[in-house]
Amino acid sequence: MEKFLITGGNKLKGTVKVGGAKNAALAVMSASVLSNEVCRIKNIPGISDVSLVAKILAEINVKVKMLNKTTIEIDPTRVVQRPVSCDIVRRVRASYYLLGALLGRFSKASVSLPGGCNFGVRPIDQHLKGFARLGANYEIDAGMINVESEKLSGNNVYFDVVSVGATINIILASVKAEGLTVLENAAKEPHVVDLANFLNSMGADIRGAGTDVIKIRGVEYLSGTSYSIIPDQIEAGTYMVAAAATGGDVMVQNVTPKHLEAIKSKLEEMGVTIEEHEESVRVTQDGPLEKCNVKTMPHPGFPTDMQPQISALLSLAQGTSIVNEGVWDNRFRYIEELKRMGANISVDGKIAVIEGVKRLTGTYTKATDLRAGAALVIAGLAASGETTIENIDHIERGYENICQKLLNLGANIKRINEENEPINMAKVL
Ligand code: UD1
Repeated sequence: MEKFLITGGNKLKGTVKVGGAKNAALAVMSASVLSNEVCRIKNIPGISDVSLVAKILAEINVKVKMLNKTTIEIDPTRVVQRPVSCDIVRRVRASYYLLGALLGRFSKASVSLPGGCNFGVRPIDQHLKGFARLGANYEIDAGMINVESEKLSGNNVYFDVVSVGATINIILASVKAEGLTVLENAAKEPHVVDLANFLNSMGADIRGAGTDVIKIRGVEYLSGTSYSIIPDQIEAGTYMVAAAATGGDVMVQNVTPKHLEAIKSKLEEMGVTIEEHEESVRVTQDGPLEKCNVKTMPHPGFPTDMQPQISALLSLAQGTSIVNEGVWDNRFRYIEELKRMGANISVDGKIAVIEGVKRLTGTYTKATDLRAGAALVIAGLAASGETTIENIDHIERGYENICQKLLNLGANIKRINEENEPINMAKVL
């Protein structure tokens, strides 16, 4: 049970390098199972979810070897079809990509119902509907999702809601199916495009990723590949917001500026200065922040995974801001923690009304999920006094070396254990 102890008030200054995108990496790791050869994947983030997916893959005889800090090699040549039900599966949402990947490879898959962050109900009906459209039968029995087909055949799949997970799962299931699959109302997130590019680099025939109609023509064989994961848009956005919250001046490197447009435009509306370079953005903030309204939506809308972080920032802006959560039913659980720090926020269903306050004050807080934890880190960096954040394992599921990266930017942040003793960072990294 380690915690972060942050003494707020330092302006973040300097350069931070963003890692590979968590949600792309997790999908790509599962997708490797579809290949008959070894795949090399670069720009893999050093986060605990990646290690957990590697452990899940080991359960089905897929070897994941670390070549260096950011490159792994996945050997799926001895993969076996067996139920995937270890405890870890229930902790990592992305483990459900093994449903599509194993179905695509063996026409059969059996995987535990997935876990992940708790944002209220997280249905998988669109995934199951998609599998059925490809000719698979499914049942949910004793906590397992079982999917099976004699032969997968391409078909039209219309999604009733825009779902990243369902889009990726049906791409995985159809990439080796016979004939043409057309996904309509597909998700357009950068990591959907990255997954499609990865599969295409192995010989798949996927067109239209990044638009709402994706066409997948089944191929018989997928070869090995060497592929580099896109930068993490949410990690980048989090450092951008942290820079703004502390009145800092930070160069966020290794980013794709196009993926940051929604975040950039909201920060600019708040009065933050953003300079865009080819693979980096410089964020500077001086003076008061202005209110703004935010509605989260599927890409290219404002990402729901940045909602807690921007809300932490808006709690320090002048005036009243309205944040409307347009994707998840229950993603405001962290607001109670921000209120303990002095934020003035009221929540009604999927809407938060934020009355900006002059300052937040450090106190004892708990991360309720990954991005909620990031919001508390931002609030703690901007607050006066000491903020303790418990349950940092949530944060480390998605942020590589966050403590060290913030230290490099001049933050006063420490990892401490239950007895409030500092942890030797050299042992952690
Ligand atoms: C992914 C991301 C998560 C992000 C979310 C939205 C991963 C591992 N996680 O989650 O960080 O917050 O995208 O950008 O990539 N829905 C249904 N039926 C379904 C599937 C989804 O109704 O079968 C609904 C959900 O309840 C939610 C919305 O669709 O309201 C979006 O969910 P989805 O895009 O599927 O999220 P995930 O893929 O689980």
